[in-house]
Amino acid sequence: MTKAKRMMQEDIKLIDIVIELLDARAPLSSKNPDIDNLAANKSRMVILNKADMADARKTAKWEEYFKAKGFFVLSMDSRKNSGMKPVSDTIREACKEKIARDRKRGIINRPIRAMIVGIPNVGKSTFINSYAKKSCTKVGNKPGVTKGKQWIRLSKSVELLDTPGILWPKFEDQSVGLKLALIGSIKDEILNVDELAVELIKFLIDSYPGLLSERYDVNESGDITDIIIEIAKNRKCVSKGAEVDYSKAAALVIDDFRSGKLGKITLEIPNSQE
Ligand code: G4P
Repeated sequence: MTKAKRMMQEDIKLIDIVIELLDARAPLSSKNPDIDNLAANKSRMVILNKADMADARKTAKWEEYFKAKGFFVLSMDSRKNSGMKPVSDTIREACKEKIARDRKRGIINRPIRAMIVGIPNVGKSTFINSYAKKSCTKVGNKPGVTKGKQWIRLSKSVELLDTPGILWPKFEDQSVGLKLALIGSIKDEILNVDELAVELIKFLIDSYPGLLSERYDVNESGDITDIIIEIAKNRKCVSKGAEVDYSKAAALVIDDFRSGKLGKITLEIPNSQE
């Protein structure tokens, strides 16, 4: 077992609820299924993060999907700390039974402890920073119980562990790897930028027709390679010898997707069979 995984297992013992951050643009691909075992017996919450960049209609479908699987669900833009009250409220709601159990045993006002987990680049630090800024309260070490751990007070009754659990991206099939590369969770070196752009363009023509022609003034019915060449010409992607730079145009399309310039796009929808 890796050190990171062992540490996460230790941290999970200290908490009541696991908050899993997923990328709203690819919620299933950005979910590491191993967390289901790691977080067994804990309350579970899913945050569809970067919802500001995702297709709102598809986000609503994903919310339903995860709710049907027993998760408490929220969608948000973690860069804004204004959405934090719903987070504390949802945590409390998810831990309602635990609070009631504590109360029966005479334990009152014990804060609920939460932890953020997610794959790289999904927004874990951003989320924690937004919370920390908002609350301004760092709860100190609690000797004996949580040695060396820092907690951030989210509300009177909720505390968040200030170090997130970093999950590893997991992909057995290529289409998941592709989506993870597009949302920036795995490095471009793993997948060739030219190939990545071809797959993105195929997907966009299929699922968001008209979008490429509007942004780059290209003919969407052409061959994908021709479309990229057309984008290179229209956007003056040229190399030294004034030749069309295919890879520069491919990288431009990917950058435009990642920065949201192509619009609010979600790469996958829930499978209705599940
Ligand atoms: P991590 O800890 O999970 O690895 O992710 P981190 O918080 O570092 O966030 C990764 C990138 O995603 C950052 O952008 C961050 O600003 C952005 N981000 C996080 N949450 C949201 C969100 O809800 N919406 C949007 N649109 N972006 C979000 P970056 O480009 O790497 O850094 P920066 O240029 O923002 O500083």
